[in-house]
Amino acid sequence: EVWNPNGKYRVVSTKSMPGTRWIRLLTDQDCRVEICTDKKTILSVEDILALIGDKCDGVIGQLTEDWGEVLFSALKRAGGKAFSNMAVGYNNVDVGAANKYGIAVGNTPGVLTETTAELAASLSLAASRRIVEADQFMRAGLYDGWLPHLFVGNLLKGQTVGVIGAGRIGSAYARMMIEGFKMNLIYYDLYQATRLEKFVTAYGQFLKANGEQPVTWKRAATMEDVLREADVISLHPVLDKTTYHLINKERLAIMKKEAILVNASRGPVIDEAALVEHLKQNPMFRVGLDVFEEEPFMKPGLADQENAVVVPHIASASKWTREGMATLAALNVLGKIKGYPIWSDPNR
Ligand code: DGY
Repeated sequence: EVWNPNGKYRVVSTKSMPGTRWIRLLTDQDCRVEICTDKKTILSVEDILALIGDKCDGVIGQLTEDWGEVLFSALKRAGGKAFSNMAVGYNNVDVGAANKYGIAVGNTPGVLTETTAELAASLSLAASRRIVEADQFMRAGLYDGWLPHLFVGNLLKGQTVGVIGAGRIGSAYARMMIEGFKMNLIYYDLYQATRLEKFVTAYGQFLKANGEQPVTWKRAATMEDVLREADVISLHPVLDKTTYHLINKERLAIMKKEAILVNASRGPVIDEAALVEHLKQNPMFRVGLDVFEEEPFMKPGLADQENAVVVPHIASASKWTREGMATLAALNVLGKIKGYPIWSDPNR
């Protein structure tokens, strides 16, 4: 699909993206926009090489693509200046290789913070109140009347939410769980989440002033403290060498038997095979997963676990956010082509 065929700058998008604002931004600034219409969900390096061709000023790509040495050198040869991932995470991008070939790299932070946090909150609730199991039970025609024991789950109020990685998304999630469900907070992060701490303190004072039990917060000295103490744990680290299999067999073992683990960050943060084993051994332990170690696949056995809620990497999937991500990605590429400062450069 080609927009503004006579545009001076050639910008390629490896996927169709929501909305038209991002296309207009580019075409208004003398760009010819080419959108790949290949039906394949995941493009190979060879597919993308063909898209780059002999002349390409910039590319908007996706987190499912492997942006390394081969693609950045090809983009350089084609006269390219910029690549933007349509995602905040950029573990699929070798930023070192991009730097080597002088290609600027952009990502799309900010516009997906609340949307992603809302999905993590949804998974927390779905797991704690066994929504998916109950839905399947209804659809199977098994409901034959109210029973005191039917799908009994956990009350979140007064329990402790644990956040590992209290950056933008982790902090937004924490606020939702604290304000929405009056949970106490324990978090682990290399940096102090000052704004989050201030929020919980102020909210605790507000509750107290209204005669309610105040919420509390604690910054954990170690990640293990969060795993031991929290009832619902949500993972929000970036994926790199230090966070690969952060949650492994040993760390699962120290979590409460009835804990809930949520992951809307990146799949390889959890050793998924160890998680499947843990779910089998501990039927009261529940998990809510948006991401998987080897997407689009799930490790054998995971799909059979009733104590797992699984969704296909949809944390940022709200219309507003996806259009915002597309717009930011276009701005990143346009900024570099036109010589404006690229503001969501992950190098900064
Ligand atoms: C991201 O942006 O990194 C998400 O995984 C997809 O929105």
